[in-house]
Amino acid sequence: MEDIEKTRGQWSSNLGFILAAAGSAVGLGNIWKFPYLTGQNGGAAFVLVYLIAIFLIGVPIMLGEMSIGRNAQLNAIGAYRKLSKEKGKNWTWLGVMGVVAGFIILSYYSVIGGWVTNYMVQYLTGGIEGQPSKYFEGFISQNYMPIWWHFIFMGLTVLIVIRGVSGGIEKSSKIMLPALFILLIIIMVRSLTLPNASLGVDYYIKPDFSKITPEVIIAALGQVFFSLSLGMGCMITYGSYLSKQQNLQRSAILVPSMDTLVALLAGFVILPAVFSFGLKPGQGPGLIFVTLPQVFLEMPFGAVFGTLFFILIFFAAITSSISLLEVIASYFIDQFKWSRRKAVISMAFFMFLLGIPCSLSFGCMGNYKVFDKTFFDCLDYLASNIMLPLGGFFMCLFISEIWGLAAANQEISNNGSIPFKSKKMFDFMIKWVSPMAVFIILVDPFAQYIAEKILHYYYL
Ligand code: PHE
Repeated sequence: MEDIEKTRGQWSSNLGFILAAAGSAVGLGNIWKFPYLTGQNGGAAFVLVYLIAIFLIGVPIMLGEMSIGRNAQLNAIGAYRKLSKEKGKNWTWLGVMGVVAGFIILSYYSVIGGWVTNYMVQYLTGGIEGQPSKYFEGFISQNYMPIWWHFIFMGLTVLIVIRGVSGGIEKSSKIMLPALFILLIIIMVRSLTLPNASLGVDYYIKPDFSKITPEVIIAALGQVFFSLSLGMGCMITYGSYLSKQQNLQRSAILVPSMDTLVALLAGFVILPAVFSFGLKPGQGPGLIFVTLPQVFLEMPFGAVFGTLFFILIFFAAITSSISLLEVIASYFIDQFKWSRRKAVISMAFFMFLLGIPCSLSFGCMGNYKVFDKTFFDCLDYLASNIMLPLGGFFMCLFISEIWGLAAANQEISNNGSIPFKSKKMFDFMIKWVSPMAVFIILVDPFAQYIAEKILHYYYL
């Protein structure tokens, strides 16, 4: 414990915390994943379900995690252990599950982070060569280059996390977030004025309700957790660096709002361009890497905007990967008394290894599929669509059954000194709405699957 206390900084201000939490939330999830999931899941229908889930599930769980962290002043695992032991229970496992989820996520996150790093370096040194979609296909299907960039991205994350969290993240988020907003708006204007852009806009804002299937709902739910960095203890760990005077309620509204705004803007950048260039919206993880360079080709000063944009996505990705590695490392520091250096380097090494088959699944391993999914897709599905929502579900149970809603309310209102106007609503959400929504969404397809198997068995 000593060890963490020593390295345990505090955010220099409430703004610092909000920026760091937003830095964790805003990342590849918003700019890379949100547009391609929207394209794969029927456009506006997905966006609509996503927005509802942010409000019903994302915001209450964000506030819950932050309050657990600040109360316990410990990393995710330590916090669950401490607060449950006070009640004679042991819920350490819930924190452990979060660490495992974080481990899986960072292994493939760093692969995409590597793609972004490569694009950034290419743009800095004169832009990508040839036609954007050919360049992309050629790049990701290679064996070595993407793994090399994955190594570099992971290495940079390691260098920052070894130095401890607060200073660097706060400073970089302070510049990165406003710059990202401005640049997204500029590029959005270009996308929206491309020929036939309105087809993309319609696809993005006019929901076709018949497209809302269980798969779309699960994808949206998983994306809420992934994009807000919830369900794995990240906001617990970040909340633990907060001082007791600061206002949790404001943070739990501001962070999801900023995150959602960036995701929505990214959709307005990507989808009109996809339709204008006649690309397929459902093509998956490559969507932004093919579309954006093409938009930059069509823009005055496109090379400059392209360079700036990939620098910003790179920063957004790094501030998120830092938060993932921090949660994992702080567990080993706390539990096994490892030094920060040892914890960070050894875990990053294993995640680098797990990332290798993820990277290869865009090339030579592309044909190995389980449940019709590549290795990359399997890890992503397991972590963001199953483990994070489960983490959130149990966090709700933890607050309502173990720690107690009264204790959470005390923490959120700073022991009564800040009025908690939405207290009743928060209690109702955490006790009923959020866990039930997650439960139904998770269990329903599983039940459908079993039912199909049984029917199949008896009738065929
Ligand atoms: N929220 C991050 C993003 O949108 C990813 C992330 C997930 C970070 C889970 C931490 C925990 O890119």
